[in-house]
Amino acid sequence: MLNLTVLVSGGGTNLQAVIDAIASGEITDTRIGLVISNKKDAYALTRAKDAGIETLYLSPKDFENREDYDKAMIGAIDEKGTDLIVLAGFLVVLSPEFTDHYRGKIINIHPSLIPSFCGNGYYGLKVHEKVLERGVKVTGATVHFVDSGTDTGPIIMQKAVSVKNNDTAQILQRRVMEEAEWIILPKVINAIAHGNVRLEEKKAYVIE
Ligand code: GAR
Repeated sequence: MLNLTVLVSGGGTNLQAVIDAIASGEITDTRIGLVISNKKDAYALTRAKDAGIETLYLSPKDFENREDYDKAMIGAIDEKGTDLIVLAGFLVVLSPEFTDHYRGKIINIHPSLIPSFCGNGYYGLKVHEKVLERGVKVTGATVHFVDSGTDTGPIIMQKAVSVKNNDTAQILQRRVMEEAEWIILPKVINAIAHGNVRLEEKKAYVIE
């Protein structure tokens, strides 16, 4: 049984997609043991509680330094016997100490086709604003392993989504979520639960 800890900061629609996929049997042999948020009022916490999942609020702001925050996070995550950490709209940049500690055990969902529209400053709605500004016709979402860089880890799965002429950032964000994020995140988790993701030095593969 793959035991997940999901890290969130906001609305939690990706968390909800994972909760629903476990409930429907699209993801098997998997449970969510813990949801951690750095925002006290994140709606994602309500979604977790409604699904009977244990929650924790831990913000770097409440710690004197990064080392102490990392220690608290690692303590909570390890206490639950976590096999995989899922960043589902988690907007805190993790320290290299944290990512090195969990090498190959953290995945992230990003709302663009990496290596486009990613890295520092590209998160949430901002990604879609930049996509519209640049005028690209295809965008999408990426699930990747997390390394010490921002959005630089091995790519596991991507899905493309069309950009339409009259899109606003909000409309495009919703389409990328519906057509890509909520589909590929559960697929990757299920593949990992069944040992079907191979991680090499810089690349990852889903074994079909
Ligand atoms: C999602 O679009 C996710 O891909 C993005 O934040 C949103 C969170 O929504 N993550 C990033 O931009 C990470 N760089 P949610 O809370 O409803 O899942």
